[in-house]
Amino acid sequence: MSAAASGITTQPMEIAKVKKHIGAIVTGIDLAQPIDDATRKKLYDAAVENVVLVIRGQAHLSPGQVQAAGEIFGELMEDQNRRYLVDGFPLISVLDNRHKDSKGQPAKVGANATWHTDHTNQELPPKFTILYAVAVPDKGGATSVCNARAAYEALPDDMKLKIADAKTENTLISSARMKTGNPDIVKAQLEAKKSPTVHPLVRTHPETGTKAVWFHKGKTETVTGMSPEETQDFLQDLTDQITQPQFCYAHEYKKGDLLIIDDRASLHKAGFDYDHSQHRRLYRMLVRGDRPC
Ligand SMILES: [Fe+2]
Repeated sequence: MSAAASGITTQPMEIAKVKKHIGAIVTGIDLAQPIDDATRKKLYDAAVENVVLVIRGQAHLSPGQVQAAGEIFGELMEDQNRRYLVDGFPLISVLDNRHKDSKGQPAKVGANATWHTDHTNQELPPKFTILYAVAVPDKGGATSVCNARAAYEALPDDMKLKIADAKTENTLISSARMKTGNPDIVKAQLEAKKSPTVHPLVRTHPETGTKAVWFHKGKTETVTGMSPEETQDFLQDLTDQITQPQFCYAHEYKKGDLLIIDDRASLHKAGFDYDHSQHRRLYRMLVRGDRPC
């Protein structure tokens, strides 16, 4: 149905690219208003094309409207960490530097301060991670995103050959990370009965057909043919190769920014370079994805 036929007014939205390989910023849209199908498709396509999309100026949204904004990009799935959720909205989880762990200690929010993609221990990891800025520090605390598709294409041929058929074994937290990990996650992994989830190290995007390097170092127990220790060293080297500045964008939030990350073509990282006496609180939504292949 056209916007006119549905009675929905098309908003004067603008989408501006941040840089050649990554990022676009959307202005001139109010996500509290109904969104017509053409606008929905433009936003979705811009997220896939630019790997990360920032929609500015949404500080007025209620949690219900934040959820509806997330649903523009697909069906939401539950965050596997059920400890920190928005009251009454089980599909919106909360990242907050004032969280406490189950023992009442400040939670180790720095545990994810490495490049990764989300929920790789699941058979069907999310296709988009969506972050909404509720409270932000004066400066720092960016979310950095790397275009792992462009970075893969730029890898030397011998590295491409080496990783072409490699698989990763994914758990809640790799044994190499247990000493420094969040104790609640370590405990959950030690009690887990499930065998590791195997994914390709290089995945093909189901919509664009392009390849990207794709892993969560902190959750990878092994890469094919490597010990857990070798795996961590290898993935760190690979991370260093693919997170060169031209492939990355660090988004420093303004309150009310909505960030949409195409997880199938990227790695991301939380920034901890801010004054931790200030409050940083993001809502997170995950859009259900396909099995990586
Ligand atoms: Fe993440």
